[in-house]
Amino acid sequence: MTVLLFSQTSIIKTHLCPNLCSGALQSFETQQEEGAARASYPGTWSSTRGGLCCSTLKLVVGGVVVKYSSSSVDMEEEGGLDSDGRTYSSRKEMWEAEAGEDPNGSDAKSIAKKLEWYHKGVSYWESVEASVDGVLGGYGRVNARDVADSNAFILEMFNECPPGAGDLVALDCGAGVGRVTKNFLLHHFHEVDLVEPVHHFLDKAQADLGSNGTARGSANSNNPKTHRAVNFYCTPLQDFTPEAGRYDVIWVQWCIGHLTDHDFIAFFKRAQAGLKPGGFFVLKENIAKNGFVVDKTDSSVTRSDAYFRDLFKQTGLHLQKTKLQKGFPKDLFAVRMYALTSEPRGMSAPPSQPTRASRRRNQPRKIH
Ligand SMILES: C[S@@+](CC[C@H](N)C(=O)[O-])C[C@H]1O[C@@H](n2cnc3c(N)ncnc32)[C@H](O)[C@@H]1O
Repeated sequence: MTVLLFSQTSIIKTHLCPNLCSGALQSFETQQEEGAARASYPGTWSSTRGGLCCSTLKLVVGGVVVKYSSSSVDMEEEGGLDSDGRTYSSRKEMWEAEAGEDPNGSDAKSIAKKLEWYHKGVSYWESVEASVDGVLGGYGRVNARDVADSNAFILEMFNECPPGAGDLVALDCGAGVGRVTKNFLLHHFHEVDLVEPVHHFLDKAQADLGSNGTARGSANSNNPKTHRAVNFYCTPLQDFTPEAGRYDVIWVQWCIGHLTDHDFIAFFKRAQAGLKPGGFFVLKENIAKNGFVVDKTDSSVTRSDAYFRDLFKQTGLHLQKTKLQKGFPKDLFAVRMYALTSEPRGMSAPPSQPTRASRRRNQPRKIH
């Protein structure tokens, strides 16, 4: 008996391609939501927009009708869409259109387009109130759940990869108003540095965390008095190089969507030199159900889990551990934490893949 899994559009390619399941599939029908995909069997299937968009998929396999109904929009892993409803058949097409990013192109037009992409991102945040609610897009109420799961994750990582002796130091990337530093990182690390491109956010962080960053302890009385925020760098990540060998952990939360793929990979490669031996990165990010979703308002892209894993491979880093954030409102994207190390450590369990239940429709609601 042929077993088909219906959770992703990739089944269309993997399981329904006549070359791959010759003789198994007897009929195949779709009802389209947006009239963008065509499919037929026997024969080939094709899509006019790089993905298959259907509300009902009816399959007949071995004489048995298998009907799968879904309200989700399935896109090819490589395809995606933007907040204006435009679809892209590939990442390459999207990056060329959005940020002029062409691996072979260093012409003036491409450079200007990329600058515009980054300028728009920072301009967006410059218009946002310097508060926790501001940096969380009105979802300030998720702060406690976010911090709880980050705490659990870092403790598991410290258990698996114990840090060296001496003071622990972390870097908070895209730090905003210092929410992550104040509520989480200062609890675990003796010193925390912040890097953030928006002046008024960093000013607020600095005001909150101690005058000129020199005061011991933080405004958060739960943090040990010996722990302190030290350096406040007003720079975007694509231009930032951390001090060599300073950090036990480089924490990157809800900001990497602003970086193009090229700059994402370059940042992680470059920043590895900032880690102490045995140090690691944690990336905590929104996850698109499939492919990617571009937000035209703040120049950011929400990538799928598969997209992230592909980029991690290109950084040369090892995915040591990954976990889904729990307990967030249902109207937000799923959020995932990834711990990345220079090489595999300890008894590294195979990283968990997203389950069917965790795959959700790409939502327009997001933090960043
Ligand atoms: C959703 S907020 C998250 C802030 C903080 N990480 C938190 O979780 O509270 C996104 C942050 O990314 C910053 N950002 C925008 N473009 C960036 C870039 N190119 N490099 C680094 N950070 C950037 C924004 O200024 C903003 O502070």
